[in-house]
Amino acid sequence: MSQTDAKVSLTGIKPTGEPHLGNYIGAIRPALELTKQHESIYFIADYHALTSIRDPELLRHYTRSVAATWLAAGLDPTETLIYRQSDVPEIFEMHWVMSCITAKGLMNRAHAYKAARDQNAAAGRDELDAGINMGLYNYPVLMAVDILIMGSDIVPVGKDQMQHVEYAADIAGTFNHLYGKAYTLKIPEASVPAEDSGRTLPGLDGRKMSKSYGNTIPLFLPEAKLRKMVRKIPTDSTPVEEPKDPETSHVFQILAQFATPAETEETRRRLTAGGYGWGQLKNDLADILERELGPMRKRYDTLMEPGSDLDGILHNGAEEARKRARPVLDGVRAAIGI
Ligand code: TRP
Repeated sequence: MSQTDAKVSLTGIKPTGEPHLGNYIGAIRPALELTKQHESIYFIADYHALTSIRDPELLRHYTRSVAATWLAAGLDPTETLIYRQSDVPEIFEMHWVMSCITAKGLMNRAHAYKAARDQNAAAGRDELDAGINMGLYNYPVLMAVDILIMGSDIVPVGKDQMQHVEYAADIAGTFNHLYGKAYTLKIPEASVPAEDSGRTLPGLDGRKMSKSYGNTIPLFLPEAKLRKMVRKIPTDSTPVEEPKDPETSHVFQILAQFATPAETEETRRRLTAGGYGWGQLKNDLADILERELGPMRKRYDTLMEPGSDLDGILHNGAEEARKRARPVLDGVRAAIGI
């Protein structure tokens, strides 16, 4: 890990869906950029996904798909550690230890748990914990261990995950307070992108592209389907000849994330000049998307084949991850008296 500073950056990705363009622009591309700056660790949080996914085939598929996506997008497994959470049993042992020093009240205040209870209240149910499993409740402790056991300094996450990283720091602080004479855990910090970082992408309905809105463009659609979907992005009815406002065009906003600065400027000029229609703009966007996604899709498809390099890469990653985790767990065990 040659040119990086001494900080360790770690992020987990929960395998609960197919990757889409919004994930790529909002999370994957900036995270790969970050690997140039810090020693970076990425893992697939498959046991976190178990709190909501009940279909074994689907969980297996999403788990491989997340790994294949990151590798196809350019993650170099010889430089950056990538592994599957479930391959590192040390995490689950330490999870028990940390749950024994964590206040239950802290978990009661966790956003995701509170939101689930609020939903029950809104539905008029008497049992506010209806449909909530212990995995959802313990989720933040497991996530804290993901972070602490790898000695992470920085945790790049979206705003919605900030509380979880604060909990990890809080739990590490409790451990250090109780056992710090014998062993100390590193206190992590969240790194959240600025509001105006320009990393959000409009979806097919103009709202932020997000799985929960059902307005996404999947990252690895076959080319013909990708082109078809691009044609579905809504536009207004300004005729071809008339000037158009690039700033209010969803198609243009997506294009700006994938085009070179010169291409973006040229497209802006054409739109404002008039004589350039939405259909042409969509064709240009589809070409630009295909230029970046085409080669990625090919790598992804190869990695997703049974018996591909993917399994070996994850296997090596797990070995490496366990080597990192072991001394931390040993330090914790000795400190607590096991
Ligand atoms: N909870 C995160 C999410 O839903 C995924 C995750 C699990 C994670 N463990 C982590 C993120 C550790 C960062 C660090 O997106």
